[in-house]
Order: sequence, then C-alpha cells, then structure tokens
Amino acid sequence: MLPPVNSAHRRTLGPIATPNRLLLGPGPSNAHPTVLQALARTPIGHLDPLYVELMGEVQELLRYAWQTDNRLTIPMSGTGSAAMEATLANTIEPGDTVLVAIKGYFGLRLADMAGRYRANVVTIEKPWGEAFSLAELEEAVAAHKPKILAIVHAETSTGICQPMDGIGDLCRQHDCLLLLDTVTSLGAVPLYLDAWKVDLAYSCSQKGLSCPPGLGPFTMGPRAEAKMMARQGKVPNWYLDVTLLNQYWGSDRVYHHTAPVNMNFGMREALRLLADEGLEAAWARHRCNAERLWAGLERLGLELHAPEHLRLPTLTTVRIPEGVDGKAFTLHLLNQHGIEVGGGLGALAGKVWRIGLMGYNSQPENVDQLLNLFETELPAFRPAAAPAAVAV
Ligand SMILES: Cc1ncc(COP(=O)(O)O)c(C=O)c1O
Repeated sequence: MLPPVNSAHRRTLGPIATPNRLLLGPGPSNAHPTVLQALARTPIGHLDPLYVELMGEVQELLRYAWQTDNRLTIPMSGTGSAAMEATLANTIEPGDTVLVAIKGYFGLRLADMAGRYRANVVTIEKPWGEAFSLAELEEAVAAHKPKILAIVHAETSTGICQPMDGIGDLCRQHDCLLLLDTVTSLGAVPLYLDAWKVDLAYSCSQKGLSCPPGLGPFTMGPRAEAKMMARQGKVPNWYLDVTLLNQYWGSDRVYHHTAPVNMNFGMREALRLLADEGLEAAWARHRCNAERLWAGLERLGLELHAPEHLRLPTLTTVRIPEGVDGKAFTLHLLNQHGIEVGGGLGALAGKVWRIGLMGYNSQPENVDQLLNLFETELPAFRPAAAPAAVAV
C-alpha cells in the first residue's frame, strides 16, 4: 500500500497567462515572433541527424555573427553567465594570474568567477561610466604579466562600449589570452573577434539575438584551445568542460547532456534572421534607433550618463533627474503601459534608468512610444515646483 500523498503543496492553477510586455530594459529583450514559433515546435532527439545538421548551422551562423573562424564555437546550455564561466573554467589553472579590467558590474562578476577557479586575480578599475585606454591596459599587462586579460566589451551596467583598438596585439606581445564579454553586443554592435585577436568570448541569447534567455554562445580560438589542452588537471567544472562538450559538438557526437533542443531551434531562427538582415544592416539599425532615442531624451532635458563617443547603441543610461523617484516611474511604465525599463546596478543604483534597444526591439516605433511616455508622464513624478516667493 502506498502512503497517502501529502497535498500541502498542491495548487489548482489556470494556464499561464503572462501579459505581452515591451521589454526595453537591460534584458531580456522581446523575442522575434518567428523565434517564438521555432521554440514551440515539437522537440526532436538531440542525436537525430536533423538535429545534428541544425547544430552545424547554429555553429556556422554564430561564427558569422562574431566574425570568427573558431572551430570551438557553440551555444552553452545555460545563460550568458554559464558561457562566461566556461571561458574561465576551461582555461584557468590554479595560480594563473588573471587580470580583470573592471568598469562596471559584469567586470566584478568576472573577477569573482576567476577567483573561484583559484586564479591569482588582479584587477584594475575605472569609474562606472568610463572605458579603459590602451595605455592603461598596457601598463597593467606589463606590470602583472597575466595569462588572461578579461574585459567587458559592452558593459550593461553603465552603457559603455570598450574601444578595442590595439588590445589584441598587446595581449599577443605579452603572451596573454584576451577574453571578451560580448553579452550586450553580439548581433547589435560591431564585433570582429578574429581581427581584434580575441581568444575567448561569450554572449547570451536574450539581447541582440532576439531569443529568450537560456543559451550562452561561447567561442574559443586556437591559442585558448592550446592552453586548455595543455592543462595538468581536468577542467574543474564537468558541465562546462569544452573537452567533453566538443565530443558532442564535434564529429564524434557522444552524449554529454540532453541538449535543450527547442532553445537551439530558437537560436537557429534568430541567427537565420540576423544573417538575412546582414550584420552591417543590423548594426546600423541599432545605431540609428539609439541615436533617435538619445536625441529625444536630450530634447526632453534629460542627461545621458555615458559620453557620446563611448555610448552603446544597445543600452542607454539616463540620469534620473533630481527629486524624481526613479523606481516609482519605472513601476508606473510597467503597470500602466506594459513597458519595462531597468534601474541602475551597483554604483549606479538609484542614479540611472537603463533603456535597452536590442535585437527585435530596436525599432523606431518603440523609441517613439517610450519618448512619448517620458514626455507626457514623467512630469507627474518630478517634485512640485517650490511656490514663488511673494514680496510683502
Ligand atoms: C555584460 C553582461 N555580462 C554577463 C551577463 C550575464 O548573463 P546572464 O544574465 O544571461 O547570465 C550579463 C547579463 O545581463 C551582461 O549584461
């Protein structure tokens, strides 16, 4: 006889009924409608020859999106942080010096993760709203002689795009790997991994690629692969071990974990749309819509946090005007208009709003709708003007 079932946690729920929000925050961004259709297809087996063919298509289109020929280019099962962790887990050996150039929240995360893999983590920092100059990086690389320099290309916490000129050459001169976070740039901001001599990079599915969250594109160049293959011990993370994963993604097709097949259907569709549009056109669209947003916000008297020459087209940081309750305004946008805009993170918490125009959402209609709301609804959130002094 089976014991009676404990029903304390049983709930009777209706089917899921989430509203259609317009996601103009730091991510996730809305998925393209045909990506949603692809996700809803009946799953097929993860070793089905048709799926194996799709894996190859996804890899090839990721290489296009990143402008790389790297053999080891795969979507990690997991979010951007899983792919971030994969770059570190596979290449760090205990005691390796890893230099992390921190100019926002995600640089801090890189440093934390590298430490967990027992790297000797050295950091250099810039205020949140600035980028590193080549000279600053050069000085740190020469002083610390790291095995890896890790830096964020598109810092989502600040809206800053790191200029990449010369960093790859610098790393080659010092026999150091260059690791780049492209979570908020892939598919939306110019990226030339091979020309920039980037050895390791990662991204996410839910921003410039117009997919829901769930996959973390990962790529590793030959220099990083050589370091991984020469390591003394096993990669200290079984799930993200590229030497094992490559037996599934490479020609052997050996089972590692059950691939999230539907997420990869969505990724294939997202990358297909990107290739159809063309990278140059996608980058230009993001730039054009971002400029429309910046001009509109400035016309309304709002101040942008990032200097124009370093501004990311995908993520705009807007300073919250004096006396305005920034959180109350974003809640109003969400509850009354179904639009999500982000708040500040870390050092910028309470100081900025973060507006994302990424992938499918980078459209002029979305910009205009948001600007219109800033114009008509923000005044109610400003402090009442002090009554004019009356002369007696
Ligand atoms: C620059 C950057 N790096 C890493 C991540 C982590 O990605 P995820 O949240 O998909 O794990 C994010 C997330 O927004 C990000 O913006």
